[in-house]
Order: sequence, then structure tokens, then C-alpha cells
Amino acid sequence: MSGKAWGGRFQKSAEAWVDEFGASIGFDQQLVTEDIEGSIAHVTMLGECGILKADEVEAIKGGLEQLKIKADNNELEFQVENEDIHLNLEKMLTDLVGPVGGKLHTGRSRNDQVATDMHLFLKKRVVEVIALIESLQDAIIAQAEDNVETLAPGYTHLQRAQPISFAHHLMTYFWMLERDKQRFTESVKRIDISPLGAGALAGTTFPIDRELSAKLLGFSTVYQNSIDAVSDRDFIVEFLSNGALMMAHLSRFAEEIILWSTDEFKFIDLDDSFSTGSSIMPQKKNPDMAELIRGKAGRTYGNLMGLLTVLKGIPLAYNKDMQEDKEGMFDTLHTIVGALKIFEGMVRTMTVNKNVLHTAVHNDFSNATELADYLAAKGMPFREAHEVTGKLVFTCIKRGIYLLDLTLADMKEGSDLIEEDVYEVLAPEAAVKRRHSLGGTGFDQVKIQLDKAKALRK
Ligand code: ARG
Repeated sequence: MSGKAWGGRFQKSAEAWVDEFGASIGFDQQLVTEDIEGSIAHVTMLGECGILKADEVEAIKGGLEQLKIKADNNELEFQVENEDIHLNLEKMLTDLVGPVGGKLHTGRSRNDQVATDMHLFLKKRVVEVIALIESLQDAIIAQAEDNVETLAPGYTHLQRAQPISFAHHLMTYFWMLERDKQRFTESVKRIDISPLGAGALAGTTFPIDRELSAKLLGFSTVYQNSIDAVSDRDFIVEFLSNGALMMAHLSRFAEEIILWSTDEFKFIDLDDSFSTGSSIMPQKKNPDMAELIRGKAGRTYGNLMGLLTVLKGIPLAYNKDMQEDKEGMFDTLHTIVGALKIFEGMVRTMTVNKNVLHTAVHNDFSNATELADYLAAKGMPFREAHEVTGKLVFTCIKRGIYLLDLTLADMKEGSDLIEEDVYEVLAPEAAVKRRHSLGGTGFDQVKIQLDKAKALRK
């Protein structure tokens, strides 16, 4: 006698510490709402199909509804000896309604039950994640709208490359997040599918109606293969993958925010409410939240690798290994929800130091491409124009000045093709404004881009 729901064939109980190792209740209690919802749908279906009598269904449903209220009020006390959320709730149900509670599990297994819970859980949470992505996108749009004509150095290799609109730079993250949103949205069709009624792996002899229980739970469709239904964790891998890639994006953005907040850059100031101080250095204001988001990307990659590794060698159908699908999923969810909320606030409240950006872009060689293009437009082969410009840059470096500081006579040393009009061309404003190509940094293009982004947010 083991006292377990499955104790019939056992002569001996495991010791408590062994039970503890096998138990998932410590974390799968987060599925309590979904587990109760799944059970209500299952028992309703059993009644509709004439498998349970109406009074039995009523008694079980009544018990489940009471448990639901207790769960909502955080009043349920879970026991490790009852292993997981499914057996804990079943025990509580029979304690409440008596032996009839034991009929709930007719035509069902914990294998399809747990899969159902996970599908229900993720389906709700993905919608919440998408809404948070959209809030961050809105914060980015708001900062971008305020900075269409803010000139900034654009970089490659973290070296000043060409002047750009600061809005253009910021909006890059809008589009990355747009793809993240698409990926989460598209994943819903693989989450929105019911495994309930697959049983342990082979289906059931009871005349159940899987489509009915799926419909009661709001699923669009059902798995067509009972083994696949209980073995599939692709939808969780996909969630972890989408979360990991999104965190890669947030981590890149975080890195830029950290750089921009340094005294060396000073392109932005983070709001005090999203910064922290130092316990020893009184002057410090640290971008801790951005650093933490950059750091937390790591655990989301770990969660993805973890589950892929769990799945790679397990035979069909259910194996206890699969219990390992949960903690990573909860952790990634918790991490991305936190990171998105923080990021939204951080971006919305940061101050863009337009003057610093203006000075920066006027004190560098990021207009050198303009000079090369200018010469090329006057008929010089581009390679030659590149060489001439490079030499003029070198002259400037030697003299500690920039291209716009050269006199026309200095310029003509480089090429006779250079005329007075070069000064207009070399102005960073002009360099940005002239980039009218679709998706380029010209102010007109950035405005079009913003309009397209805003249309997507309607
Ligand atoms: N706690 C288990 C899990 O999370 C539930 C399924 C258990 N099924 C079984 N046959 N032992 O995977």
C-alpha cells in the first residue's frame, strides 16, 4: 500500500526524498487554472456522451468550481506526496465530493491532461506577450517621432560611418520586434490544438467526443494522432525559440542604451526611475535594467537548449523526461514579460541629447562618402574618388581638422573637380536629406517608414 493514486500494484512506498525528486507540484501549480478548466471540459464531455450520469457530472463540476474559487484566492495547499498538479487536484476533489470524484479521470490520462494544460496556458500567455511587444513598439515610435530630424552618427564596426536620422536608428528595433510579434502570432496555430482524449497514448475505449472537449476549451482543432498528441512539445520549443530570439534583439538594444548612456557617448540619459546608484561612488548612475536584460538573454537561450536536449533522444510516447518542459517555459515567460515591461518604460522615459548628437555628427568624417559620391557624380571613377577623398581625410587627420574645415584651395589639391558647392554637399544635414532611396535615412523616407509602422499599430 503506497497511498498513491497509482498505488495498487505497489507493495512498498518510496521515501519522501525520492518522491520529492519526482514531484513537479513545486512548479506545475502554475497550471492550476488550466488544469481545472481542462477537467471541467472533460467531465462535461463525459456527461454529453453518456459516459457519466448527469448527477455525477454535476457533483464533479460543482467540486471543480469550488476548487477554482479557492485557486483564484490562493487558498489551495498543495502536497509534495501528491506529486503534481493533476493528482493534487484530483485528491482535493475526492476529499470534497467523495468517491465520485474518482470518475473524473475516465477516458483520460495525465499524459493528455498535462499536454492540454500546457496548450491552454501558452495560448493565453502568448497573447499577453504580443500585447507587451506592441507597447514597446509604441514607445519606440514615440521617441522616433520626436527625433526624425535629429542627426546622429551611424556606425559600422562601431566606427563612425555615415550620418543618419536618430529616428531611423531607433526604428530598426521596431521592425525587429514586428518580426518577433509575427513569430509569436504564427505560433498560435500550433498551440491552439487539443490533445485531450488522447489518453496515455492510444486513445480510449470510451465513446468520447474529442472535438466537443476541444470546443469547450476554445481550441480550434484536435491532434489527429493520439501518440503525437501526448509526445509533441514542439509548440513549447517554438515559444522558447521565439522568446530567445526576441531577447537577442532586446539585448542588442540594451547594449546600445548602455553605450549611449556613458560619458563617452552621452547620446541619451536614462530616467532616474530606470537607473540605480552605487553604494560607494556617489556620482554613479548605472543602467542596471538594460544590463540585466542583456544578461537575462542568456537564460532564455539556456531554456531553449535545455528542452531541445531533453527531447532529442526520448522514444514515443510520454516519458517522465518531459516533465522538464515546464520550468524553462515558466522562466522564459517570466523573463520576457519582465524585460518587455522594463524596456517600454526605459525607452519612453529616456531623454535624447539632441545637442550632443548634433555636435557628434559635425565632428567626424562620416561625411566622407558624400565627397566621394560628389566626385563620382562629376565623372570621376568611384574608386579614384574614394582614393582622393581618403587622402583629404588623411590631410585633415594630420592637421587635426575635419573635411568641412578645409579651404577650397586645400580641396583642389585633391581634385580640380571640387567647387564651392562642395560645402553644402558635405553638411551632415544634406547627407541625410539626400538619401531618398526607399527605406533610407532621408527625413522624407523616415516619415514614410513611421507612417507604415503606425498603420501596423492600428
Ligand atoms: N507531472 C507530469 C509532467 O509534468 C504529468 C504527467 C505524468 N504522466 C505520467 N505518466 N507519469 O509531465
